[in-house]
Amino acid sequence: MAGFAPALRPEQLGDGTFCSDHRLRYAYVAGAMANGIASTRLVEAMGRAGMLGFFGAAGLSLERIEAAIVQLTASMMDTPYGFNLIHSPNEPELEAGVADLYLRHGIRLVEASAYLRLTLPLVRYRVSGIGRDAEGRVVAPNRVVAKVSRVEVASQFFSPPPAELLVELVRRGDITQDQAELAASVPVAQDLTAEADSGGHTDNRPLVTLLPTMLALRDRMQEKHGYAQPLRVGAAGGLSTPAALAAAFSMGAAYVLTGSVNQACTESGSCDAVRTMLAQAGQADVAMAPAADMFEMGVRVQVLKRGTMFPMRAGRLYDIYRAHAGLEGLPEADREFVEKQLLRATVDEAWQSTRQFFLKRDASQVERAERDPKHKMALVFRSYLGLSSRWANAGEASRAMDYQVWCGPAMGAFNEWTRGSFLEKPENRQVVVVGQNLLYGAAMQLRHQHLRAQGVQLPAGVAHGRPLDPFELSKALNS
Ligand SMILES: Cc1cc2nc3c(=O)[nH]c(=O)nc-3n(C[C@H](O)[C@H](O)[C@H](O)COP(=O)(O)O)c2cc1C
Repeated sequence: MAGFAPALRPEQLGDGTFCSDHRLRYAYVAGAMANGIASTRLVEAMGRAGMLGFFGAAGLSLERIEAAIVQLTASMMDTPYGFNLIHSPNEPELEAGVADLYLRHGIRLVEASAYLRLTLPLVRYRVSGIGRDAEGRVVAPNRVVAKVSRVEVASQFFSPPPAELLVELVRRGDITQDQAELAASVPVAQDLTAEADSGGHTDNRPLVTLLPTMLALRDRMQEKHGYAQPLRVGAAGGLSTPAALAAAFSMGAAYVLTGSVNQACTESGSCDAVRTMLAQAGQADVAMAPAADMFEMGVRVQVLKRGTMFPMRAGRLYDIYRAHAGLEGLPEADREFVEKQLLRATVDEAWQSTRQFFLKRDASQVERAERDPKHKMALVFRSYLGLSSRWANAGEASRAMDYQVWCGPAMGAFNEWTRGSFLEKPENRQVVVVGQNLLYGAAMQLRHQHLRAQGVQLPAGVAHGRPLDPFELSKALNS
């Protein structure tokens, strides 16, 4: 015998308690993608395959989110799924409204993201309904999977809710004093995704440096607080090949979470034109561009740069915003660029439509803009950034050069791995087939490592595997 590679099934990857607690077959999660790009269809497909999907509620109106809630509560019944609760520093009322919707409709699991500090709506969601079960154990019916890229933020999620927020919730009558006391014994999030360089909002950290730091934090926080249910850390960012998943699991990730590759799948709320663009992307075809939601703060998001001029145009827009006090004083060249190339309207016309939008969504923004020319400029510029992602989702052909497509280097790595296989074609990319291929390939990769450690040399190419078509996959997974 040359070597021995013990059996390893995709279901065995990651932390078994993550799967049992969330009632999953695989420790594999599809992260939320804004504007419904992580669509109800995508969430349904994931759930039915024993994986977890989070609906992309960010950027949607309360009505659209509620429609998705109604759809998923009816179609999923007892099948696991979750919704995104995203921090909205510019629109605190929207964040509170979304948390309230989740509470009213009994949504039991959220992916909390973009937080820098914990907020009242988030803590209210987590501690609402907290109590003791028949054995006297503290149970919080609402669970939070936090997604963070910074240790300072992670330690807030791994701590019990801050006392001052609990006091405020008691004062408002949202929870009782007894519930506030019980809340002090649970973490805000038991599960936390360490998000490395990814599509969308990102700190561009490498996963190989971020994950060990977060795992060490998990151990310190578990020791400090002695929670009844141990804390867990999952991995995200750049995960789109079997090798990457194998590495994340080997490093100790409880679960893996993907994003960019799912947008490229048929179930995503994007359009075929964008799926085709994504299928052509290489690893270097991404760039950082100003974010619509935190534009004034200089926050940036990672987007596709091949086939669109968005990153360049949005970057220039931010420079103009920084350099000027308001729309009225823009130099001729800048005004022409903004009006002719971006808005396709005069700045006055653009302000009128932006104003109408905010009168419905958050009228205080309009009042502020009418007093403060810089804020008015920010709202108009943000309207272009917001629309650019909607044009991409809708496949608005006349705006192809303005498509804002959130995407990380994971996309290029996936295209490279699938080149020449059936998964090269955008129409064959389905979230479950992609996820199962990644998990199956990762399990194979880890078995090959065993053989390598015993001195067995495998032929070149074997160790990296190749994507299996749905028929081969179902045989491999059920054998
Ligand atoms: C198109 C797109 C939209 C995203 N929107 C959100 C979002 O609204 N909320 C969120 O928490 N994460 C969002 N993300 C991040 C993903 O949920 C996930 O964490 C990330 O994409 C993982 O990294 P990867 O892109 O390298 O796979 C988005 C990612 C993409 C690609």
